[in-house]
Amino acid sequence: TNVLVIGGGQNAEHEVSLASAAAVAAALRMGDHTVTTVTIDREGIWRADGIPTGVSAAESLALAVPLLGRADVVFPAVHGALGEDGALAAVCALAGVRVVGSALRAGAIGMDKWTTKLVADAVGLRTARGQLVAAADIGDVEFEGPVVVKPVSAGSSYGVGLVTEEGQLLDALREAARFDSRILVEEVVRGREIDVAVLREAGGVRWAAPPLEIHATGLFDTATKYDGSARFEVPASLDAAETAALKRAAIAVFDALGCAGVARMDFFLTDEGPVLNEVNTMPGMTAASQVPRMFAAAGVSYVDLVARMVRAAVA
Ligand code: DAL
Ligand code: MG
Repeated sequence: TNVLVIGGGQNAEHEVSLASAAAVAAALRMGDHTVTTVTIDREGIWRADGIPTGVSAAESLALAVPLLGRADVVFPAVHGALGEDGALAAVCALAGVRVVGSALRAGAIGMDKWTTKLVADAVGLRTARGQLVAAADIGDVEFEGPVVVKPVSAGSSYGVGLVTEEGQLLDALREAARFDSRILVEEVVRGREIDVAVLREAGGVRWAAPPLEIHATGLFDTATKYDGSARFEVPASLDAAETAALKRAAIAVFDALGCAGVARMDFFLTDEGPVLNEVNTMPGMTAASQVPRMFAAAGVSYVDLVARMVRAAVA
């Protein structure tokens, strides 16, 4: 199978996306795949072997389309806006090329933490109580206790801040507003941080890998996500009922959004059960990321995992 792996992208997660794409490409090469890689730089210029395919984003995209067309399937390992949010899946769909992972709708909803909350509520899952604030109105938000402030659409915790005192609120709102025109102000949920990954196989069967617990000192923020200080425990130490509740919740979200490929649902496990924090329809895919570790715990190696994702996309 000829796979075109796309990395990079035009948002704060550019570097993470490069790392995910490199790992995906390496794993696919170890399997039975012919791999071509393309990188989208921060300005939106598509590059093949480092060489821009055109001088502007528009021209380079136009000249990259034949590369998409020559692939059997595209693996868009681009996190965040203009990638994971469905933009790349949409380009592939318009070009009639198969794509690994979620299509436009699931990507767009999963990237939107507010809409995800509404969908989760509709299928009976708990989420943190939250208030949606337009960036233009941040001066009107009142401090009524500790909250988490986050851009509605961003990843790797960019723009996310924990506010415990009134004096921190406006700065946190301004920081979130750098990433999105819509901001979420959420109650702080106290619980264990547990991730659950779901894979949709060729043929449509979807299943959840053993949950993973994140042990971070303090907030699992952008720094601790990538400085190696957080410890992942997989399988998380959970009883059978907790594991079942988490997997059921993860699959319910996956289905409600209509996800494909792999998605990672991040929960807080509270005394009242799982509270959905957010959904990642193109989660971090380096060998050290949560998703490969969770599938490894299920006996599915990284090479096997990406091969299954590709098989599902071409089936
Ligand atoms: N957004 C990052 C890449 C993750 O979810 O793993
Ligand atoms: Mg995320």
